[in-house]
Amino acid sequence: MSVSTPLSRRGFLASGTAALAGLAAPALWSRPARAESFVQPPLPYPDTALEPAISARTVGLHYGAHHAGYFRNLNRLTVDTPLEALTLEEVVVRSSGVPSLQGVFDNAGQAWNHVIYWDQFRPGGPSAPEGRLATAIEESFGGFEPFKAALAGTAATVFGSGWAWLEWHAGSLHLTGTRNADNPLARGRTALLGIDVWEHAYYLDYENRRGEHVSAVLESLVNWSVVADRLPA
Ligand SMILES: [Fe+2]
Repeated sequence: MSVSTPLSRRGFLASGTAALAGLAAPALWSRPARAESFVQPPLPYPDTALEPAISARTVGLHYGAHHAGYFRNLNRLTVDTPLEALTLEEVVVRSSGVPSLQGVFDNAGQAWNHVIYWDQFRPGGPSAPEGRLATAIEESFGGFEPFKAALAGTAATVFGSGWAWLEWHAGSLHLTGTRNADNPLARGRTALLGIDVWEHAYYLDYENRRGEHVSAVLESLVNWSVVADRLPA
């Protein structure tokens, strides 16, 4: 999945060079705004779609301020660098563990994490895993209920801001808690489901009751077809 636009900085400069050669000489103030390298995908449902588990106010702020901010910062930090020609996924991998690119990683990671996050809540899917995903959950956790309890436990033990993930690695399912923007992609694993446990994800609705929020998400919001489609073939 790529959420970057095909228009590169190089393409913009090429058109500018043509203008300087006299092929078309627009006034500087009429030059069209430059396209951003990394574009936040639209929220795939109305901001009321996750109620009552997550309020429209929380979705509005989370998507419109926090998630949008990560994209805005990432574009600012990568402009006029080789990173702006990469996909978002490539930027996450390339910047992971590089001290000089910590700010890039933080914003690229969070931009990507939230794309995963919003998409997995598309309304209308099955309320429990089916098929191959259900089988894998049964094998790894002993069933859907113990799986949800284990994932909730992982979410509860993330210290501070971070994420709880169901991921696929080396042919089986794993639960992992990560800090800040870190994610399975940066560690060469496949993210199947990501639960955001930054306070901005739940504080307006649940105050400090992170566990209640995580339970509500797992019980009523996850589209298990979206999660299953993330399993490698
Ligand atoms: Fe978030």
